[in-house]
Order: sequence, then C-alpha cells, then structure tokens
Amino acid sequence: MNQHFKPNSVAGRDVASHLHSQTNPKRFEEKGPVIITKGEGIHVFDDAGKSYIDAMAGLWCASLGFNNERLAAAANRQYSELGFYHTFFNRTHEPATNLAETLVDLTGMKGGKAYFATSGSEANETMVKLAWVYHTVRGKPTKRKVIARDRAFHGSTIAAASMCGLTFMHREFGLPIPGFLHTLCPDPYRGMLDGESEDEFADRLALELERLILREGPDTIAAFIAEPINAGGGIIVPPKSYFAKIEVVLAKYDILCLGDEIVCGFGRTGNWFGKDTVGMKPHMMALAKGLSSSYFPISAVVLAPEIYDAVNAFNKQGGSFGHGFTNSGHPVGVAVALETIKIYNEMNVVEHVRKMGARLKWHFDSMAQRYPMIGDVRGAGLMLGIELVADRATRTPFDPALQVGLTFDQIAYEHGLIGRCMGDTLGFSPPLIVTEKDIDQIAERCETSLKVLEGRLTVR
Ligand SMILES: Cc1ncc(COP(=O)(O)O)c(C=O)c1O
Repeated sequence: MNQHFKPNSVAGRDVASHLHSQTNPKRFEEKGPVIITKGEGIHVFDDAGKSYIDAMAGLWCASLGFNNERLAAAANRQYSELGFYHTFFNRTHEPATNLAETLVDLTGMKGGKAYFATSGSEANETMVKLAWVYHTVRGKPTKRKVIARDRAFHGSTIAAASMCGLTFMHREFGLPIPGFLHTLCPDPYRGMLDGESEDEFADRLALELERLILREGPDTIAAFIAEPINAGGGIIVPPKSYFAKIEVVLAKYDILCLGDEIVCGFGRTGNWFGKDTVGMKPHMMALAKGLSSSYFPISAVVLAPEIYDAVNAFNKQGGSFGHGFTNSGHPVGVAVALETIKIYNEMNVVEHVRKMGARLKWHFDSMAQRYPMIGDVRGAGLMLGIELVADRATRTPFDPALQVGLTFDQIAYEHGLIGRCMGDTLGFSPPLIVTEKDIDQIAERCETSLKVLEGRLTVR
C-alpha cells in the first residue's frame, strides 16, 4: 500500500483493492480516490464535507439529482413486494408491462416493443443483434457490418466499444473487432471547410457515408448507429439537414438506423428524445441513464414493429429469442424508471429543460464576449459545451501538452463545480432539476474558473 495513505483509510483500502474505470492507474496510486459521501439535490459532498455542484449529473445521468426520496421510496416499495423476478420463459410482472407500454408510447414507436437490459452498452449491442436477425429473416444474412462515426461513444463491451470512434476505447484491447466501421463525425466547428455551408457539409458527410458503403459492399452493411447529439465526443450538434440526408443513403442501401439515446433521451436536449431535436428517424432506440435517473442499472431498447416481426418470423418453428440478461426487466429497476418518468411528467421536463438550457446558454454566450479563448458554445437543452481555443479567429486549438481542458476541470473542482472536459471542450449536463438560481451559480463558478485559467495561461 502507498505510504502516504493512512492504514485502513477508505483511500488506502481503495487504492489497494479497486480498479477504476477511465482512470490512470499510476496517478490513482499516487493521488488516491475522490471520496463522495452524500448527495443533496444537484450537490454532492466529499469526505471533508465540501459541497460541489455536479454539473455533469454524474455521468450525464442523475437527472433528478443525487438523493431523490420518491425514487428511494419506489425502490423500497418494490423491494418489499417482489425484490426480484426475471422476464425469461414468458414471465412478467405488472411494473415491467407498464414500463414497456410507457416506453413504446413515449418514443412514438407505434406498434413496436420494448426490450429490457441493464446497461447502455448492452442496449446498444442488443440493437446490433436485432439488426442481424432482421436482415437474416429477409434473406440478407451477409448484412452484418455496422457503421458508427469518429468520436462516437457507445459503451465498453466488445461490440459497443468497437462502435466507439475514440482511440482511448480501443488501444489496450486491439479494437475495433472486424465488421465495425467508422465514418466522419458531423462536427461543424471542426469539420466544415472554408466557404462551406452547414448544408453543403451535410451533403459531403452523406456522400462520404455512401462511399464507405459502396467500398465495403452494400450487401455487407446491417446498420448505422448514432447519437442524435454526440455527448462524450465533445457535445457535437450535427448540421440541421444531416440526419435527413444520411437517412436517404441508408434507405437506398437497406441499412437500419440505430439511435443511441442513452444520454439524449428523457428531456436532456429539450425534447423527450434527441431524435426530435435533430430530426432523426431510427428503427430502434437505446435508452438508459435518464430512464431511471441512474438510480438503478436499467436500460431498454425500443424497436419498430418490423424488427419485432423479424424475431417472430425467425422463431416461427418454435425456437425462442436467444437473448437475455438475468436482470432484464428487474422489478425494482422498472419501478424506479416508472417513478422517474412520472416525476419528469409532473415537472414538465421538456419545458423546464428548454428554459433552464436557454438561461445557461445565455450565460455561456455572454462569457464568450468576455473570454477570447471561448471558440465555440454549442449544444441543446441542458447539454452544452464550450470549446476553448488558442485563437478564436483561426479556431487554432491549444497545444495539447498544456492540457487546458483538464486544468479547467481541476480549477472548477476547487471552486465547487464538477464539469467534464473532453479535450479542450468543457461539458455541462447538470441534473434536469436545476433551478434558475442553480444555473446562475453554475455560470458564476464557471466564469470564476475561466478567469483563473486565463491568468495561468497568460503567466506562461
Ligand atoms: C452515448 C452513450 N452510449 C452508451 C453508453 C454506455 O452506457 P453504459 O456505461 O451504461 O454501458 C454511454 C455511457 O456513457 C453513452 O454516453
């Protein structure tokens, strides 16, 4: 055990026993963990009692904050009634039925079905397997490959990680596995050419996708997967006409569109689902995070009727759908999700997010007037990003060695604000329960941190 941790302290024991996700092992051994002891609304507290606004809702997920009593009560009620049962072999329970019905209805997937899993990665992989069944049943079993985009994040299991377009998800593991391809990221700020309009950029992205499909062979491609707005790659809002143009190409080559709504779903972008913010028309949607405000590990796939029909047709000789997780449709998970959705409805989540999102965006836009290092402010609803640059006029990034984004995160943390940098893009995705006062406080702490960062960069 590292010398400077007290014996038997949580920090020392954690360093000795716990492998952490997305954490540098050596730095962790030296610095130890950040220990979070409790939550109160949008705030979390560390073991020294210091409070922070978690303006990332944890991992884009705790939409109802960190100690919602109603969710705790819903879980407790369900634990007392039926603490576990599965949904294999025709089994169900009423909360699972209610949630399936609610999700089909909310997503507008008329005549479709909901399938339950326990993580976003599993939901995304379920969509891939369903796409394979769909094409097989229609006599096209060679359609197996999946196209994702550069800078995408879709999860950590093998196929989900292969769909990521981020090298840090691939390098240790020799990923992506064969059959998982990537096309251009629709990032107007970084991807548009001089003199190109957003619409022309969207044309070029669609053309590039078509070229990839033709190079690989249309009869080998099963599906295209995308988040409506890319969260983890740097909060990237595609050009307005992007999905309409992409979907023409997909339809031409009989390729399914898979919507990863794991971050964007449940009000985050100012609509119930991100697809409505960007005009996307997916055949299947993966839901997680905001589905239960992450109070329980539950995810879902909502599928269009034709996808269900394929599963049905494949098994017409009496076989069973060969897929399932022990905790698919866990009664406590579905009960918590139902209560979460009830609260979203009561708080009129879409209107609230639009109002709060506009207020936060206004703050960031006005900061951009005062801080020349703000190159771009973008996003939708309560999912906003600020990209910091060395030169705004030329969009020249900072030298990566300066670690500007990471330095901002550290300064903000010292000022009681938890954000999340993605390179030099600062991400903000606060719990959806934020009030006007909370938004103003997030902006104030953000500006104070920018001022300190600016001072440090000038001193250099
Ligand atoms: C867009 C997106 N898809 C999928 C996932 C994976 O979800 P999970 O970590 O629950 O497997 C994430 C997680 O952050 C995500 O942001």
